[in-house]
Amino acid sequence: MTLQITNEADCVKKLGQVIYIAGTQWGDEGKGKLVDILSAQYDIIARSAGGANAGHTICVNEGGESKKFVFHLMPSGILHDDKICIIGNGTVINIPTLLEEINELKEKGIDVHNRIFISDRAHLLLGYHKIIDGIQEERKKGKKVGTTLRGIGPAYTDKISRQGIRMGDLLNFSTFAEKLRTNAEKHMKTYGFEFDIEKELNIHKDALDIIQGYIINTTEYIHKSHKKGKTVLIEGAQGTHLDIDHGTYPYVTSSNTTCGGACTGLGFPPNKIENVVGIMKAYTTRVGEGPFPTELGDIEGKMLQDQGAEYGATTGRPRRCGWLDIISVKNAIDINGITSINLTKLDVFGGFKKIKIGISYKLDGEMVNYIPSSLDDFDKVKVDYLEMDGWTEDISKAKKFSDLPKNCQDYVKKLEELLETPINFIGVGVHRDEMIFR
Ligand code: GDP
Ligand code: IMO
Ligand code: MG
Repeated sequence: MTLQITNEADCVKKLGQVIYIAGTQWGDEGKGKLVDILSAQYDIIARSAGGANAGHTICVNEGGESKKFVFHLMPSGILHDDKICIIGNGTVINIPTLLEEINELKEKGIDVHNRIFISDRAHLLLGYHKIIDGIQEERKKGKKVGTTLRGIGPAYTDKISRQGIRMGDLLNFSTFAEKLRTNAEKHMKTYGFEFDIEKELNIHKDALDIIQGYIINTTEYIHKSHKKGKTVLIEGAQGTHLDIDHGTYPYVTSSNTTCGGACTGLGFPPNKIENVVGIMKAYTTRVGEGPFPTELGDIEGKMLQDQGAEYGATTGRPRRCGWLDIISVKNAIDINGITSINLTKLDVFGGFKKIKIGISYKLDGEMVNYIPSSLDDFDKVKVDYLEMDGWTEDISKAKKFSDLPKNCQDYVKKLEELLETPINFIGVGVHRDEMIFR
């Protein structure tokens, strides 16, 4: 565990020209905060997968005032006005949501013009995808996925079944209109709903004035920039266990949220991604349905929810809370090739007398090292816990590792030992400056 990152300026030197930021759990690990911090050091910040199901929160202290930003489609580097942000081909984009984010930024004095580029190959997420998402969830009755109802699954379904509409199609409006009409009519018939096609076309026609200048071949742009020595930070969305292949299927999202998805979602090869930073909350949370073996239903779960303000950044739903699950994070380290970890929300444990860590799974009495593919098996898994002493001190003012109470330091060192991966960043509060480098 030799990697050490002692300050922000160290990041590019130690982590390399291209890095991926991966969620190691079920999303909401605090990816946005590290992306914002590291964006000060990187030239290009790119989203490669997902859509507005993501909610990435950034809190900035400015002149004694705390400002909060939540991004759904916009890469979290956008607050740095000298940085280029890219929304890659692997994403699904709802234009009204994107325009809303651009407008909110404008109202806060941040201009995205000439700094945001959208792949001509990214798929459009249209109004009818959201309606279908709602209908599909409704029809599942007791087996709902608990989606964000942002239309993600249906948009990716159109993409994979080769009937999607891409950003580049917008540039030839008559072709776009024809495709939209065909798709909307087909979906209305299949699912039995009403949809105002002309209104949807007008929304996109009006939007074109603003966004047509943003639509480019982002793959070519990234490669050209990379060859010129520009640095690239790829911002993951969701988390490893929401990945369509590697997650707790079918309680997952519809994209590849892991490092492989970053490559296909930008047209960027794996051998150019030099390091992968895994974001790991000091405990585990999950929004939506699906298995969660270390979930706490009692007082401690509520304590984590309250102290950690665990409410979804996209839907406002309360997040389910539980102890850290080492097995699932180790799986995430393998799948993403994680070389460095950002432990987040360590401050939330303040006041916990005892802290538990889920360290192994047993299925029918046998040790298993991976999340079983069968959810029936996963439901039967028994977790073994390691219990550690907590701390009472407020750690949010800690600037370096040695400022942390001994029990807190021991918790971090134990995690490093269990994960066999260095913890180079430790989040001790919501704000940009509340991060220890190590
Ligand atoms: P993301 O989706 O992975 O970017 O994470 P979200 O923004 O959805 O959720 C993380 C939440 O935790 C946000 O409200 C952040 O402001 C907050 N957060 C991030 N890091 C820390 C930390 O170290 N301490 C505390 N207390 N909050 C944090
Ligand atoms: P960020 O990037 C947490 C979850 C939903 C649901 C499942 C499928 O903020 O970490 P979808 O709408 O994608 O079809 O929903 O995935 N989910 C997330 N949970 N954070 C996210 O993103 C999520 N994006 C999707 O709650 O369980
Ligand atoms: Mg989130």
